[in-house]
Amino acid sequence: MLNITALSKRYPNAARPVFSGLGFSVAAGEIVALIGESGVGKSTLLNCIAGLEAADAGAILIGPRERDIVRLDEAARAALRATTIGFVFQAFHVLPTLTVAQNVAVPLLLGGVEAGQHAVRIETLLARVGLAGFGPRWPGTLSGGELQRVAIARALVHRPALILADEPTGNLDPRTADEILALLLERVREEGAGALIVSHSQHVAQSCDRILTLTPEGLQ
Ligand SMILES: Nc1ncnc2c1ncn2[C@@H]1O[C@H](COP(=O)(O)OP(=O)(O)O)[C@@H](O)[C@H]1O
Ligand SMILES: [Mg+2]
Repeated sequence: MLNITALSKRYPNAARPVFSGLGFSVAAGEIVALIGESGVGKSTLLNCIAGLEAADAGAILIGPRERDIVRLDEAARAALRATTIGFVFQAFHVLPTLTVAQNVAVPLLLGGVEAGQHAVRIETLLARVGLAGFGPRWPGTLSGGELQRVAIARALVHRPALILADEPTGNLDPRTADEILALLLERVREEGAGALIVSHSQHVAQSCDRILTLTPEGLQ
């Protein structure tokens, strides 16, 4: 689902690269934790994988068709994201001017999923994340934990082959964080997607199939 080779990234004017020569893969249905100290480059790596940040060298093969997102132009990267990748951000990124159902619908609209199937898929996913009946609500009326459930439903609604989550429970209290993480892992397993989950929590990492540690010297 994800195969990375010789990946390097340096921000303009930075003294040294964030990482260089990175390589690893995530198999279909495998959930991998990515841990490492703050500032080591975890978010940069996820953003490169999603094509939101440009890599300097290397290859990032994504999905069953093994498209190399490093080599695609902006339009093709957006299309690959829309069909193949689900992203859960730390800060939820739920759009405040759309209802819960409209937020969850965004990947369906971008990914060209047939409109007739949207309502059922959205209702099913909302029920699966414990938000049955929340479709017409406005995000401003939801708690942090509920907002992250919306973000999880949105990341899964288009059945992506690869889920990327960047500290998905970083903004939640520890109990809600554990609950949301368990939910994310359960849903990812049910969908059979591969996943790369960044977290500071040992507990989170131990719930995953495998742990990768990013250090200034590379992956361990
Ligand atoms: N857009 C950017 N421009 C320049 N430097 C950046 C940018 N984003 C991150 N960095 C730098 O890259 C390094 C890795 O950051 P980041 O990927 O956010 O780390 P992590 O997610 O592991 O905390 C840090 O030194 C950070 O300051
Ligand atoms: Mg980060």
